[in-house]
Amino acid sequence: MLLTYFEQVLDNILPDESNETYISDIFVRPLINALGFNQQEHFSEFKTGDGNVDFAARKNVNSDIFALSRINPYLLIEVKVRATVAGAKFNLSEGTPEYINTKEQMKKYLLASKCKTSQWGIITNSVHLQLFRRHGKVVFPATPSTLIKKDNINAIVCHIKNLIDNPPKALTICVYNNKGGVGKTTTTLNLAATLVQQGKRVLLIDFDPQQGDLSKSLGLQVGKVSLYDCLSDRDLNIHDTVQPFTVKFKSGKSFQLDVIPADPKLENFTQQDLATRIEKGSARLKDALKVFVYEYDYILIDCPTSWMFFSQSSLYACDVVLIPTKHNNLASLNNAAKVIKELVPEVNAARQDGGPIALPIFFNGESITLPQLKIANQEIETIISREFKASNFNLRPYFYPNYIKPDRNTEIFSLPNYAIVAGAAFDRVPAAFKHSTAYEYYFKLAKEYFIL
Ligand SMILES: Nc1ncnc2c1ncn2[C@@H]1O[C@H](COP(=O)(O)OP(=O)(O)O)[C@@H](O)[C@H]1O
Ligand SMILES: [Mg+2]
Repeated sequence: MLLTYFEQVLDNILPDESNETYISDIFVRPLINALGFNQQEHFSEFKTGDGNVDFAARKNVNSDIFALSRINPYLLIEVKVRATVAGAKFNLSEGTPEYINTKEQMKKYLLASKCKTSQWGIITNSVHLQLFRRHGKVVFPATPSTLIKKDNINAIVCHIKNLIDNPPKALTICVYNNKGGVGKTTTTLNLAATLVQQGKRVLLIDFDPQQGDLSKSLGLQVGKVSLYDCLSDRDLNIHDTVQPFTVKFKSGKSFQLDVIPADPKLENFTQQDLATRIEKGSARLKDALKVFVYEYDYILIDCPTSWMFFSQSSLYACDVVLIPTKHNNLASLNNAAKVIKELVPEVNAARQDGGPIALPIFFNGESITLPQLKIANQEIETIISREFKASNFNLRPYFYPNYIKPDRNTEIFSLPNYAIVAGAAFDRVPAAFKHSTAYEYYFKLAKEYFIL
């Protein structure tokens, strides 16, 4: 019934000059309804603590009627016009200035003080529609910005309803730069150890079978069932690949990381073998990990440097890509730009679900003097302007996330060089478990990117 209604609306009722109120009445309120929220479960002009969002929605819980208590929203909706008063189209397709501003606006709302329970945000002008998901500090697309039409609106509404009715729990992170030795494995491991100590349930996946560094540094080997077995045989239970890694402290406290160790069997296959033996190729890992998304708070994937099956699968499976670089290594900065500008979009095009996104880069594991930092900033400026000239791609927010005029803040998060971090591989225990300074460093990284 409602869906037939949408088909009609999109067909003929909404003229381009519709104002926000008209779009809200004719399109957005029925949409909220179709997503399963009744009259008492949504209202307009919700005060987020950082501006008003057009609508907020949440199911009532017993006697807590959302429209009355007006606290703890679950879904936020920001409505835009189809065209400006002057008649220019308000274009919410990805990449336009209007889109970028609206996306930033939604991000601000989802992270505002009164929205700590909000997990989803929709932006729409009744021409385009996009769903965003929030996990801790990270806001990322849960669908692409989609041009809505009569023949896809039903599918879009069903898909969004399905997502918000069965919300995933985990954020899946891949630490990647296609430059070796920048600290991918070390960061993955210590970030996982830090998140576990923050009370999070964490799954670590070693998808770098050639190196297997992560598994080696935890002293773990593949168990009865390997990841390759599960990738090639859908009838196996992927839970059987998981090995616990437990750290017990003198205080009696203990922490457990769940780990899928590197599978040496995978090492012997060529790219061609892998493509033919594993149905769906580099899309298969994401499928296989799906069950874990409802069980863990964080899933971290370690993968090899070169752009091939394992790294492609890892980017395909993740929500966000965290990119370590070195301030004194130009290749690591150029390769970070390549990940952001070429490899992530390549995976976006294959996935068609809006993911993954690249997070801003960080400097890892080197002490930095001021003159060195100045040189690094010059190199970064060169990369930014080169790529902008070549293809209009704006890398600046990925290098300088706080660069807002007039201050032009060029700070980049930096994880210090710490000998104990490097030495920990021989102890078979990540440094962030054993040394409070190492823990503090990685806790700062976790706060910078992931946890509120
Ligand atoms: N913050 C750090 N402080 C000291 N050493 C580090 C740090 N990060 C990484 N390393 C060391 O740098 C080397 C390369 O790191 P690794 O994580 O193996 O890189 P990748 O996985 O990108 O190839 C390792 O010897 C590691 O111990
Ligand atoms: Mg590595």
